[in-house]
Amino acid sequence: MRTETPPLIRLEEYRPSDYLIDRVDLDIRLDPHATRIDATLALRPNPAGRAGAPLHLDGDDLRLVSVALDGAALAADAYTATPSGFGLHAPPGQPFSLRLVTEIDPTANTKLMGLYRSNGVYCTQCEADGFRRITYFLDRPDVMAVYTTRIEADRAEAPVLLGNGNLVESGSAGTDRHFAIWHDPHPKPAYLFALVGGRLGQVETRFTTMEGRAVTCAVYVEPGKEDRAGYALDAVIRSMRWDETAFGRPYDLDAFNVVAVSDFNMGAMENKGLNIFNDKYVLASPETATDGDYAAIEAIIAHEYFHNWSGNRVTCRDWFQLCLKEGLTVFRDQEFSSDMRSRPVHRIAEVRSLRARQFPEDAGPLRHPVRPRAYAEINNFYTATVYDKGAEIVRMLRTLIGADAFRAGMDRYFADNDGRAATVEDFLAAFAAVTGRDLSAFARWYERPGTPRLTATMAYDPAASRCTLRFTQSLPGEGGRDTPPLVIPVALGLVGAAGPLSGATCPDVRDGIFVLDRAEAEIVFDGVTEEPVPSLMRDFSAPVRLDLALTDAQRMRLLAQDSDPFNRWQAAQDVALRLILEPDPARAYAFAEALGRFLDSEALSDPAFAALVLALPSEGEAADALLSDVDPDAIHRARFALRAHLGQVLRPRLERLDAALAAADDAAYSPDAASAGRRSLRNAALDLIAAGDPETGASRAADRLARATNMTDRLAALGILALIPGQAREEALAGFAERFADEPLVLDKWFAIQAQIPEPGTLDRIARLKAHPAFTMTNPNRVRAVVGSFAFGNPTQFARADGAGFSLVADTVAALDSANPQVAARLLTAFGSWRRLEKSRAAKAGEMLNRIKAIPGLSRDSADIVARTLG
Ligand code: BES
Ligand code: ZN
Repeated sequence: MRTETPPLIRLEEYRPSDYLIDRVDLDIRLDPHATRIDATLALRPNPAGRAGAPLHLDGDDLRLVSVALDGAALAADAYTATPSGFGLHAPPGQPFSLRLVTEIDPTANTKLMGLYRSNGVYCTQCEADGFRRITYFLDRPDVMAVYTTRIEADRAEAPVLLGNGNLVESGSAGTDRHFAIWHDPHPKPAYLFALVGGRLGQVETRFTTMEGRAVTCAVYVEPGKEDRAGYALDAVIRSMRWDETAFGRPYDLDAFNVVAVSDFNMGAMENKGLNIFNDKYVLASPETATDGDYAAIEAIIAHEYFHNWSGNRVTCRDWFQLCLKEGLTVFRDQEFSSDMRSRPVHRIAEVRSLRARQFPEDAGPLRHPVRPRAYAEINNFYTATVYDKGAEIVRMLRTLIGADAFRAGMDRYFADNDGRAATVEDFLAAFAAVTGRDLSAFARWYERPGTPRLTATMAYDPAASRCTLRFTQSLPGEGGRDTPPLVIPVALGLVGAAGPLSGATCPDVRDGIFVLDRAEAEIVFDGVTEEPVPSLMRDFSAPVRLDLALTDAQRMRLLAQDSDPFNRWQAAQDVALRLILEPDPARAYAFAEALGRFLDSEALSDPAFAALVLALPSEGEAADALLSDVDPDAIHRARFALRAHLGQVLRPRLERLDAALAAADDAAYSPDAASAGRRSLRNAALDLIAAGDPETGASRAADRLARATNMTDRLAALGILALIPGQAREEALAGFAERFADEPLVLDKWFAIQAQIPEPGTLDRIARLKAHPAFTMTNPNRVRAVVGSFAFGNPTQFARADGAGFSLVADTVAALDSANPQVAARLLTAFGSWRRLEKSRAAKAGEMLNRIKAIPGLSRDSADIVARTLG
C-alpha cells in the first residue's frame, strides 16, 4: 500500500461559513476514560453564506451520544454522525440551537490534540484544529462565539478547575465531585478554547491595568514546584506592563492564568485567559535552568500574553493568515526582549536563529511564502518562515514608515479589526491609511518564497570625494526580468579608518535608510574624504543574503570601528565563515589577532556581545552557504580547526578574561542579562581554550563542573567535556545523571548533550539512551531531546555517509507517527536540506524518505512532509 499525496486546501477557495455560532454552552464532566461533553450551540445562517445549505460540523475521533434540535430529539434520517463529522441535512432558516453530547477518552489521546491527560492533569490543545476532537463544531477561526463552560470533576482527582475568561461560580456537585463555571465574554474562535483540571500548585499576584481593572495573575505548576514558577509570574507582569506602554494594549479579563504541563507538542499556547505551557518554558530555578532557559521563558510568556491582542482580540480569518498573528506576535516578543535585555545582543540572537532555521527552509523543498497559498496539513505550516520571516516583514514595515507611523498604524489595526477575523490585507490597510502610502509593492514579501540575494559594489573617486554604491536584487529560482522587485530597506553607512564618516551625504538616504525598490540602483555619496568601507544592512534591516566583496582587513575595520553593533559582529562572522569554507593559516592568524585586539579593548565592557563575536558561524550556517555538495565532515573539521587555532592564539587573553570574570562571579546567581553575559563570555572562553588544548580543557571543564553553583555553568562545562573523548567525560555524564535523576527537564539536557556528540560512537550511545529507563516515546520533550537534538544538532552523525543516522531518525518517525503525528512530522523536517548534501549521502537520505513514504497508514502530517521533501 502506498500513502496518497494528501489533498490541498487553497487560499483562493476561501468562502465564508454557511452558518455562524454565536454562543456555546459546554457542560464537561471529566473522567479519565469517559469524559462527557454536553454542548449547546446557538447557530444561525450566515448572511454571507449559501442560504439553505446543509450544516456540516467538523469532528475528529468523536462518538455522538445524543443530539437535539431546539430541544427536540432528531429523527435518525435528519442527520449523519461519524467520528469525523456531523451533518444536519435541512437546518432551519432562522437561528436554532443544537445540543450535542459526545464522549471521549482523554487518557487514550496520544496525539496531545483536543482534551488529553498529562501526568494525570486534564488539559486541552485546540489550535489549529483540536476542538473538533472535543465536540462537533464549525472548527475554523472565522466562526467566533461567546463561551460558557461548566467543568465538573472528582474533587480529589482535579481540585483545580480552570477555563477561559472569568470564574462565575464554583461549588460541590455531590459527595466526591465539584464544579466550576467559567464565562468568556469575548467572542473567540474554537482554537482558543481551553480547560484544565488537576492537582496543581500555584503562585499568584495582582496587576492593575491602565484602565483600572484588577487582574489576578496566576501560574499553575506541579505541586511542590511552586518555587520554580516565580520567574514566569514576574514575566507575566512585565509583559502586561510593556504591552500597555509600548502598544497601549491593556488586559481585558479579571483573571490571567498560565498552566505548565509536561506533555505538550509545542512550546506554549495562547488560549484566551488560560495560556497552557510546556513546563520547560515555565519552571526555572538556578539549579535546574540555564540563562538561556530564563530568556526563553521570558520571551514565550510574553509571546503568548501578547497574543491576547495580536491573535485573540484580532484573530485570523483563515489559517493562510497565520503570520498575521504569529509573525506580528514574534515581532512584539522580540521587541519586549530587546527592551528587557541588550537590544543588539538580542538582535544578533534573532538573526542567528533566522539563518539557522529559516534560510535553509527557504532554500529547500519545504519552502513556502510567509502567507502560503495551499496546504495539506496546517500543523506543518507553523514554520520558521511564517514566524521569523513574518516578524522580519513587520520589522521592515516599521523601518520603512518610521516608529511613530508604525505605532499609529498598529493602533489603527487594533481599532478597525477588534473582535474580527482579519487578513494580511487588513493589516496593511491600517498602515496605508495612517501613512497615505501605497504598500502594494511591499506586500510582495508575503507572497514570494526564497531568500533574496542583494549584491552590492562600491566605487570610490578620491578626486571628487565621491563614493558610488551599486545594488542588484535577485530572487533565487524566480529568474526572469518580469519578476517585480521587492521593497528592501537597506540601512547603511560609510566607515572610515577612525570611524563612521559623518560628513558623507546622499540624497537617496534618509535616516540612514536607502529603500531599494527596483531590480538595480546606484546611489552616490558626496563629501567622502577618504576611501570608506560600506556598512550595509545594518541591524539586519531585511531578510536577505548580502553579497559584498570586502577584504578581511576591511571587515576588521568594521569590527573595530562601525557604529552598528550588528555589523561589527557580522564582520567577524563573515571572516570566520570564509575561513571555514576556505581554510588559510595566514589569514586565520590575522583574524585571531584582530579578535584579540577587540577582546582587549572591550570584552569586559560588554561581555555578552564579546561572547557572540567569539562564537563562530555554526556548521549549519556553513552548509547553508554552500549551495550543493555539502560534506558535513569536512565542514566540521574545518570549523573545529579554526576554533583550535583561535583557542591557541588567544589563550593568554582568554585566561585573563576568565580570571577577571571569575572575580565578578561571587554574588548569588541572578538571571539578569548582564550576569548572564558574563557567564556566557567565561564559558565561551573556556570552550575556545578547550578547543585549542583539549587536555587542559578537560581538566578545567571538570573543575568548573565540580564548582558550579548554577545550571548555566554546569551545563556549559558538561557540553565542553562532552566534546573531549575519554574517561573524564563518561564520569561527568554519569555523575550528572545521578544527581538529576528526578528532574525530567534537566535529564532532557543530559540526553540532548549526548545526542549531539559529533563522533561515530554516538549512534551506539543513542541506542543506549533509548534503552535508558527514563526514555519514553510518549513525552515529546524527551523524544526531541534525544532524536530531535540528533537530527537537528548533530550534522555529521545525522548525515553519516553510511546512512545509519538517517535510519535512526526514520525509525523513530515510523515508531511515533500513528501515536503522535505532529511530533513525528516535525522530526521529519530534518531531511529538508537533503538534496544539498554530496551525492552519496543524498542518495541515502532519498532512500530513507522513500521508505517512510511507503509506510502503510502514514499520517497526513508525515505524508505531507515526505511528499514535499521528495517533491
Ligand atoms: N499559537 C502557538 C502555538 C501553536 C503552534 C499551536 C502550532 C498549535 C500549533 C503559540 O503562540 C506559539 O507560537 N508558540 C511557539 C513559541 C513562540 C514563542 C514562538 C511554540 O510553541 O513553539
Ligand atoms: Zn504564537
